[in-house]
Amino acid sequence: MRQIVTTGNGNISVLKVQEKPEPTPGPDEVVIRVRAAGLNFADILARQGLYPDGPPKPCVMGYEVSGVVEAAGKDVNSSFVGKSVVAMTRFGGQSEMVVVRAGQIFEKPEKLTFEQAAAIPVNYLTAYALLVVMGSLHAGESVLIHNAGGGVGLAALDIAKKIGAVTYGTASPSKHKFLSDRGLDHAIDYRKQDWQPVLQQLTNGHGVDLIIDPIGGAHWKKSYAALRHTGRLGMFGVSTASANGFAGKLKMLQAVIQTPWFHALPLLNKNRGVFGLNLGHMWHEPEKVAVWMRDILRGVEEEWIRPHVDQAFTFDEVGKAHRYLEERKNIGKVVLVPK
Ligand SMILES: NC(=O)c1ccc[n+]([C@@H]2O[C@H](COP(=O)([O-])OP(=O)(O)OC[C@H]3O[C@@H](n4cnc5c(N)ncnc54)[C@H](OP(=O)(O)O)[C@@H]3O)[C@@H](O)[C@H]2O)c1
Repeated sequence: MRQIVTTGNGNISVLKVQEKPEPTPGPDEVVIRVRAAGLNFADILARQGLYPDGPPKPCVMGYEVSGVVEAAGKDVNSSFVGKSVVAMTRFGGQSEMVVVRAGQIFEKPEKLTFEQAAAIPVNYLTAYALLVVMGSLHAGESVLIHNAGGGVGLAALDIAKKIGAVTYGTASPSKHKFLSDRGLDHAIDYRKQDWQPVLQQLTNGHGVDLIIDPIGGAHWKKSYAALRHTGRLGMFGVSTASANGFAGKLKMLQAVIQTPWFHALPLLNKNRGVFGLNLGHMWHEPEKVAVWMRDILRGVEEEWIRPHVDQAFTFDEVGKAHRYLEERKNIGKVVLVPK
């Protein structure tokens, strides 16, 4: 079978497609024949050597797949074999075949293609945890979604619309038309102007109830300042550090130095909350994540969860796929397909 191997830290030249022996399942595992694997920003950061959670290199990245169960271990119900599924994978998903615990698979909704199904786990679970579980977004409240045109951003927009919140989103201007067609109430071009005064003006100086921020560093301080009373800030990424080589290390160091400290007393006096989320640190809580996933899959049936795949690249085009994300061209999800 073929796999996408990140052979070291560097630019896209470190990405290679290599042949590996086919895997066999352990007693409580299944083997999935992958039809599509999600590409995430974490894969870019891992390639750049800026993702501490990534496996040692050479490694096969990939947090999520859709495909067909090809074999099941001896303790797994054999009726799984032949089923179309979607799964979280603790790396290794960007491969023609992957082994996962049977508890980590969910039946693929029939109305989704394999490519759309592979766009669900990371983006929608992250957005669900940020908005519903930790952000406690309610109808009539307001939410600012940074990078609203990205994978997590579009997922958050779907969920915020379902909740009935007023939605604000920052994105590169080329994505604004798409975003307003998807229902975003206020798109803000944060590339050419400072988003903060624009948001203040749009909210009559109040700020918003919830902000989800994957940019990191000093940007978290800025987002915190844009909350209204009882507002919450969800921090979940450090996109600001993305760069190859020494520049990336420098940017990451700068982000760490500029990361704000939140003291209890100002939080108390300003009625604000801050929280962090790392979905990759939830592997020990599969029951919780399964509850979220079931709600998301119900949303697919009810059509308020609408995974949007911008492009599918073949494994051989993985370098192009990385570059597409790095150049901010994607609207929603980028997936990798074996052929
Ligand atoms: N903590 C978690 O559990 C978790 C889970 C999933 C994702 N994340 C984080 O969430 C963020 C979004 O992830 P994603 O996979 O959905 O990817 P994505 O949003 O599709 O990421 C690409 C988009 O981010 C925006 N962006 C902002 N700063 C950027 C930069 N310095 N370089 C390139 N693009 C930049 C660009 O859109 P615009 O220019 O239009 O804004 C770009 O199109 C990432 O920081 C990722 O690490 C965290």
